[in-house]
Amino acid sequence: MERVSFDATDLRRAFGTFLTGVTIVTTRDATGVPRGMTANSFTSVSLDPPLLLVCIGRGSSNIAAFEAAEHFAVNILDHAQAEVASTFAARGIDRFATVDHRPAATGAPVLDPCLSWFDCTLHQRVAAGDHLILIGRVEAYATRATEPLGFCRGRFVRLEPAMEDAPRYRRA
Ligand SMILES: Cc1cc2nc3c(=O)[nH]c(=O)nc-3n(C[C@H](O)[C@H](O)[C@H](O)COP(=O)(O)O)c2cc1C
Repeated sequence: MERVSFDATDLRRAFGTFLTGVTIVTTRDATGVPRGMTANSFTSVSLDPPLLLVCIGRGSSNIAAFEAAEHFAVNILDHAQAEVASTFAARGIDRFATVDHRPAATGAPVLDPCLSWFDCTLHQRVAAGDHLILIGRVEAYATRATEPLGFCRGRFVRLEPAMEDAPRYRRA
């Protein structure tokens, strides 16, 4: 079948209409230096076993670290952490200099504070086009009762109304 080729900017814009949260994916490189980047490609995958995934761009300066990583952490940001998201998407700076962080049980850095963190052992790496999908098995996690940071159409968003006032999905 002949493939249609899409304009990358236009396709990115269409993908960007999907409202997501914002995470910082972290690991350590071969020399033990913390590495991390902002990622909204996070998805929960499975409860049993507990699996999640995140997609890392092949063009990322951190790709070698994530290709080799046996452990990584996903830190979900809260509504007050848009600056942290921008910091971990910027190049040429020490991204960890302005955030408090500590090694989780696997050694992957977790941010303190953040909305939730998941400390993972690599379950599977999947090569997928211009991204690498990292599927992690959750070894430990923690979560707090603050509001999440959202992202849609290239902008950070806060949820209105506050979550406790929003319509609730109920299983039939
Ligand atoms: C809100 C937001 C979400 C992002 N999500 C991803 C993502 O899921 N995967 C990815 O590879 N890059 C993502 N990026 C881009 C990276 O954070 C980073 O800017 C880019 O990889 C360049 O830095 P690096 O070369 O050091 O990785 C996102 C950036 C922002 C601001």
